[in-house]
Amino acid sequence: GFNVAVAGATGAVGVEMVKTLEKRNFPVKNLKLLASARSAGKTMKFKGEDVVIEEMTHDSFKGVDIALFSAGGDISREYRPFVVESGAVMIDNSSAFRMDDDVPLVVPEVNAEDIKLHKGVIANPNCTTAIMLVAVAPLHRAKGLRRIVAATYQAASGAGAKGMHELIVQAREVLDGKAVNPVAFAHQIAFNLIPHIDAFKENGYTKEELKMLNESRKMLHLPELLVSCTCVRIPVLRAHSEALNLEFENDITPEEARAIIEAAPGVQLVDDPADKRYPMPLDATEKYDVLCGRIRQDISRNDKRGLDIFVSGDQVLKGAALNAVQIAELL
Ligand code: HSE
Repeated sequence: GFNVAVAGATGAVGVEMVKTLEKRNFPVKNLKLLASARSAGKTMKFKGEDVVIEEMTHDSFKGVDIALFSAGGDISREYRPFVVESGAVMIDNSSAFRMDDDVPLVVPEVNAEDIKLHKGVIANPNCTTAIMLVAVAPLHRAKGLRRIVAATYQAASGAGAKGMHELIVQAREVLDGKAVNPVAFAHQIAFNLIPHIDAFKENGYTKEELKMLNESRKMLHLPELLVSCTCVRIPVLRAHSEALNLEFENDITPEEARAIIEAAPGVQLVDDPADKRYPMPLDATEKYDVLCGRIRQDISRNDKRGLDIFVSGDQVLKGAALNAVQIAELL
């Protein structure tokens, strides 16, 4: 078994990392739960036992084989040298190292082979990108992807447990006719949507949108891939959805795409016109697989190289905790 540490164990993703290690029966010899001083001394259950949460210090990683980090970019940057020095492999959920040349950025269903290039750090991608690529990568392998145009419908959980809490509390406040006071989000999220996520860059795109561009190029090994997107926060609790317009080098029919998605790992075809059953965030919640459907030919083109698809995936699982544990399984 492995000595595993979870850094940021009390956050929305950290809690799910611990649960996923248990559910997938990861061979854990010893589990260290690390958090800020505020949570130290509390306990969390793992395989029926209480594990005491420790305050994370630079010395916490002695004897650790695998460190799952979900503690924010600044903390990841601060701790990286101590984790690597101790001989542990750091699987980091922040955006701190994702675009570094010496750090593989990995979704196992997409580019598992990149893991072996690691020098102590492996990055977990942005959730929206991970969910998108699980569905898009098998289509790319068959037909050669040229361009993605995406609109996202991102859940409150993308802003952590405080985002989910704010959505619930705010919905009640609005129904009770009280004033709302947005903190986790830039504007009221209950009964609304916000058409921007994270900070803006000079070109009018947001950081979240540019992550989808840059991380997709890196993971698909397609430096020329064209990606444009609009990332939108909606009042859903924890699964992200995305409407994707895809352009390929070769012709692709919806029937071919359905067969490819059906055979692909990590993705489940939900595309049933008879029952009007398509991917929805409530159905994707707490599922390992990303749901994919609404597959149709893009009729704006006069060729067969365009497809429209819709995906929904649990943002905390495939978008974060599950993907990190899957990377650990491949080590
Ligand atoms: N940035 C994402 C969001 C979360 O805000 O939805 C995880 O990548």
